[in-house]
Amino acid sequence: MTRPVLIAPSILSADFARLGEEVRAVDAAGADWIHVDVMDGHFVPNITIGPMVVKALRPHTQKVMDVHLMITPVDPMLDAFAEAGSDYITVHQEAGPHLHRTIQRIRALGKKAGISLNPSTPAKMLDYMYEEIDLILVMSVNPGFGGQSFIESQLKKIDAIRKNIDKRGLDIRLQVDGGVDAVTAPRVIAAGADVLVAGTATFKGGPSAYAANIAGLRGY
Ligand code: DX5
Ligand code: ZN
Repeated sequence: MTRPVLIAPSILSADFARLGEEVRAVDAAGADWIHVDVMDGHFVPNITIGPMVVKALRPHTQKVMDVHLMITPVDPMLDAFAEAGSDYITVHQEAGPHLHRTIQRIRALGKKAGISLNPSTPAKMLDYMYEEIDLILVMSVNPGFGGQSFIESQLKKIDAIRKNIDKRGLDIRLQVDGGVDAVTAPRVIAAGADVLVAGTATFKGGPSAYAANIAGLRGY
């Protein structure tokens, strides 16, 4: 199954003092989804934003709000992120012992459910979850910060997961997050990714550069 590649700017690299404007700017510049990185200073060594900010940003765009939760425990926060207006809610495989229950809860809330894998986590951890999810997020850096270098070994994981999705004939988005730029984008697309998260590569140069930056990630 081939489908167009979607670009999801990570607002982690936006100007946090002007987040609403920044979301409107990347929306107008051609972003497909808005990727929101939620960090708790516990699961990852950084703290960002919570459901109140997702709710505040919701009126600024009609695009898909793609919320990447890097928090533990995650279950107590799912309702709040759903009510805030998330479209996709992605949780980490490594964040808790009851992943299946967590995914069931996200879907029961009427949201698309995603699972993210850290760079050290093998693709096989998804084996019993393919039928339950809408998105798989391969982390190509260690989660916590923007601006890190792409970890090459993740290309093999993307390729393996793409084969598993296609073999099963499932409608699951395969997303890659971390160190994605105009150089690494064609490589992750060739490996089978169809949603590219990009923070640094989208927001570099300020608003006048966003449209060209996003086009550069798509390869045209
Ligand atoms: C990292 C986040 C990413 C991050 C990517 O934990 O999940 O979304 O913003 O940043 P870049 O694109 O700068 O590598
Ligand atoms: Zn992310």
